[in-house]
Amino acid sequence: MSDAKKLFVKTYGCQMNVYDSERMAEVLAGAGYVETDTADDADMILLNTCHIREKAAEKVYSELGRFKGLKAARPDLKIAVAGCVAQAEGEEIVRRQPMVDLVVGPQSYHRLAELEARTGGGARAVDTEFPEEDKFDRLSARPKARRAPAAFLTVQEGCDKFCAFCVVPYTRGAEASRPVAAILAEARDLVERGVREITLLGQNVNAYHGAAETGDLGLAGLIRRLADIDGLDRIRYTTSHPNDMDDDLIAAHGNCEKLMPYLHLPVQSGSDRILGAMNRKHDARSYLRLVERIRAARPDLLLSGDFIVGFPGETEADFEATMDLVRAVGYGQAYSFKYSPRPGTPAADRAHVDEAVKADRLARLQALLKEQQQAAQAAMVGKTVSVLFERQGRMPGQLVGKSEHLQAVHVTGDDVRIGDIRKVRIVRSDPNSLAGELVPEPQASPAA
Ligand code: SAH
Ligand code: SF4
Ligand code: F3S
Repeated sequence: MSDAKKLFVKTYGCQMNVYDSERMAEVLAGAGYVETDTADDADMILLNTCHIREKAAEKVYSELGRFKGLKAARPDLKIAVAGCVAQAEGEEIVRRQPMVDLVVGPQSYHRLAELEARTGGGARAVDTEFPEEDKFDRLSARPKARRAPAAFLTVQEGCDKFCAFCVVPYTRGAEASRPVAAILAEARDLVERGVREITLLGQNVNAYHGAAETGDLGLAGLIRRLADIDGLDRIRYTTSHPNDMDDDLIAAHGNCEKLMPYLHLPVQSGSDRILGAMNRKHDARSYLRLVERIRAARPDLLLSGDFIVGFPGETEADFEATMDLVRAVGYGQAYSFKYSPRPGTPAADRAHVDEAVKADRLARLQALLKEQQQAAQAAMVGKTVSVLFERQGRMPGQLVGKSEHLQAVHVTGDDVRIGDIRKVRIVRSDPNSLAGELVPEPQASPAA
């Protein structure tokens, strides 16, 4: 038996939280923690929280309540709350839930080991500052463990857009980009550890403007620099704001081979009146024109989006405009939500749409989006696609991976391994994935 302490991490919310959780586990590895997949035998429980939905804080408090028994049985157990609820609630968390030992915001988690050392025996630590130093600088000493073939890499954080419904500018702070050299170094390190696909993350990733020796680079410039890395085969990025899709980035979709033909480009609504009330600073026509231009650069691009129904003041006609926009675009994949008021945001105090009306609109929108997603999948049947295999499937001998268009593909076969990129002929479209057959390779697997 080793005397390593055990860390249980539970992650909510967006991909950036997934990335942050990995970084926090690495910081705590430096303090002697190894990860475990159950809370029951953990020495530290870390909840990495999200604040985007209604009652997010309440849900965290009730989740914490479930650990009461564990904490009573083992008073040494440390309980930590990180992420966007930690940022929003701060000190309030330890006031309302005294069994919490540590609260750390998304901008201070590089200090986690020091904070952890200050806790225990009833001592608490709370850090929700936006410190001057660059947290990423302090995160670079990673253990050289082998990684899954697809990884996230945060390149930009925060948002200055202040959409009227959104908490992100408050929880993640002002928009900031990491320097190019730091990102390239992290990408090379990931590739050395077996990563073949990197998704660049940012709340507004296409607002990226990082310092390089030759002056600032935009996202397209960064993608081209990353594309020079041997062994890195696929690049993606998320999430984008329509107003930050510049000409260079649109062109990259046409001429950068490693940039995958998939784009998550939230529009939120198809009604100009509602877009104005949301402070989105674009209208439906400019969005449609933008989609046309990106598709001209990359005709097979698969588009994904986010939608909010029942934003304050949304009429049936406004909602129909959203349905029209969806029909005009044709999404391969999408997320849709009922508007939920977030305290502190401008829209929270406006007159709300009736809950039953919201539910009805959401059901209609989701039926249309589901139809489009199924059509996009069905269109792949009979085609040969390139798949990066990421994990074991549920059936014996089954492997699951992602196509270039980010569709899940599963195959059965013994000459394919996790980390391989292989040609697959699609034979069937299932509800949320595609079934395929491996195209035999004349020679050994390219990954060998
Ligand atoms: N930074 C990203 C994601 C923001 S949060 C972006 O700008 O696109 C992810 C999605 O959650 C948003 O695109 C929006 O559709 C949804 N969302 C955010 N706040 C919401 C709220 N108050 N009610 C309902 N949906 C919301
Ligand atoms: Fe939120 Fe709007 Fe910023 Fe996206 S662009 S993070 S929706 S404020
Ligand atoms: Fe949630 Fe914070 Fe991400 S609010 S969606 S975890 S940026």
